[in-house]
Amino acid sequence: MDFKLLSFLIFHYSITSSSIIASLPLPKQSLPTKSGYLSVNSTTNSAIFYTFYEARNPTAPLSQTPILIWLQGGPGCSSMLGNFYELGPWRVSSSHSHNAKHVTLTRNRESWNRIFGLLFLDNPIGVGFSIASTPEEIPRNQKDVAKHLYIAIKKFIKMNALFKNRAIYITGESYAGKYVPAIGYHVLKKNARLPVRSKVNLVGVVIGNGLTDPISQVATHAANAYYFGLVNDKQKRRLKSLQEKAISLAKNGNWSEATNARSEVLNTLQKMSGMPTLYNIRRHKPYQNYLVAEFLNDVEVKRALGVNETIVFEVCSKVVRKALHEDLMKSVKYMVEFLVKNTKVLLYEGQLDLRVGLVSTEAWVKRMKWEGIDKFLEADRKIWTVNGELAGYVQKWGNLSHVVVLNSGHLVPHDQPLNSQAMIEDWVLEKGLFANHHIENLSTSLSNVL
Ligand SMILES: *[C@@H]1O[C@H](CO)[C@@H](O)[C@H](O)[C@H]1NC(C)=O
Ligand SMILES: *[C@@H]1O[C@H](CO)[C@@H](O)[C@H](O)[C@H]1NC(C)=O
Ligand SMILES: *[C@@H]1O[C@H](CO)[C@@H](O)[C@H](O)[C@H]1NC(C)=O
Ligand SMILES: *[C@@H]1O[C@H](CO)[C@@H](O)[C@H](O)[C@H]1NC(C)=O
Ligand SMILES: *[C@@H]1O[C@H](CO)[C@@H](O)[C@H](O)[C@H]1NC(C)=O
Repeated sequence: MDFKLLSFLIFHYSITSSSIIASLPLPKQSLPTKSGYLSVNSTTNSAIFYTFYEARNPTAPLSQTPILIWLQGGPGCSSMLGNFYELGPWRVSSSHSHNAKHVTLTRNRESWNRIFGLLFLDNPIGVGFSIASTPEEIPRNQKDVAKHLYIAIKKFIKMNALFKNRAIYITGESYAGKYVPAIGYHVLKKNARLPVRSKVNLVGVVIGNGLTDPISQVATHAANAYYFGLVNDKQKRRLKSLQEKAISLAKNGNWSEATNARSEVLNTLQKMSGMPTLYNIRRHKPYQNYLVAEFLNDVEVKRALGVNETIVFEVCSKVVRKALHEDLMKSVKYMVEFLVKNTKVLLYEGQLDLRVGLVSTEAWVKRMKWEGIDKFLEADRKIWTVNGELAGYVQKWGNLSHVVVLNSGHLVPHDQPLNSQAMIEDWVLEKGLFANHHIENLSTSLSNVL
């Protein structure tokens, strides 16, 4: 829908009752540039919901400005969480006035659409505002997830001549550690068989705190918790035996039971450690992601986004989670191996995440089958600073970059908005620590001359 036509919208919304308690003109710039539905099946009308935010301060003509696509994890969680709680240009926050709680939107100047276009897709169908006409149509594996995403992305690109040739980066977090490789792999395989004008201009993929190779990742919780000082040696052994159960079930192809066994590892860790959330070891209470649901269930907000008012928005869909239950422990590592040979790959993790953190990712990265892996593993983690402050570490060789984001949990763009923005911009533009060597050497010799 076209937001130029919309000039007013209810902006404050009461949590305590469903009545709207304050109406203010909604700043036009808080609305997405475009939002609505991308049909993935014309016979059933199932469709993927999207919001697109054009670059605020593009450094190139829009037709040459990259587009980042964001996919949330779960499985079953809405990319509107990423949009309104992490990396989008306006984020929800709660405030108090007149003895009532409100959800308000606050501008996020550290959003990922400062110099790039930013597209959020509610994936797969059944998630967030996306529509699954029947539960049977919800994908149960990554191949089917990728098929729908591919149709949606192609539709989006065709929607506007301005989108046609722009470089596309697929990004995502957590369970999108499965979706991102799956759609990236699908696009590259399709591209190989298509004429240039029909290819999707995929240039790179990004995974944050991702679940990608669950068998090697689930094996790391016990040691990680032990070295964080959360459990003692005896408890570590208990966690380890639970992990081994998850691993052996998965190795036997008993996927559903393996998923349950992994949940038991995490639940046991949470009980033993008393952590209010495993997403960030430093948080004293869980992330307030319910604010996103409060905001998006407002009728006026739904109207403004082009959503049927009768849809109830849930941050995470249990139905979709269930559909992908058997998929959860299956690996897509081989897809990342294919991607790193053919495009750029960025992996980043918030250091304080107890669910899918650094050692969890390194466990599969070091076992990657890729000709550059030894050189990558031999590279140092270089000290990464943003505005002169320590932000983390960057390890890079060739097409693979790995970033440690300090003082951050699972939701990196929420916890470290500025640093996450600096990371994505430098990586896309190959600047700073993400520069390729010959460019680095050129600038070094130039600065020596000057
Ligand atoms: C669309 O839905 C029909 C009916 O369920 C199904 O046969 C077909 O495979 C679906 N197409 C895609 C692309 O999912
Ligand atoms: C999977 O594991 C469960 C519980 O351990 C067991 O009851 C079931 O028979 C297993 N299924 C298969 C196919 O191995
Ligand atoms: C919204 O959805 C309901 C229930 O599916 C349907 O009856 C109604 O026609 C829809 N409204 C619009 C404006 O599409
Ligand atoms: C890195 O990706 C490029 C394509 O962008 C490819 O030509 C090259 O072979 C890849 N390098 C390695 C070492 O896989
Ligand atoms: C650039 O410098 C790095 C060390 O900083 C070196 O490893 C690399 O070989 C140099 N590359 C070129 C093209 O001179």
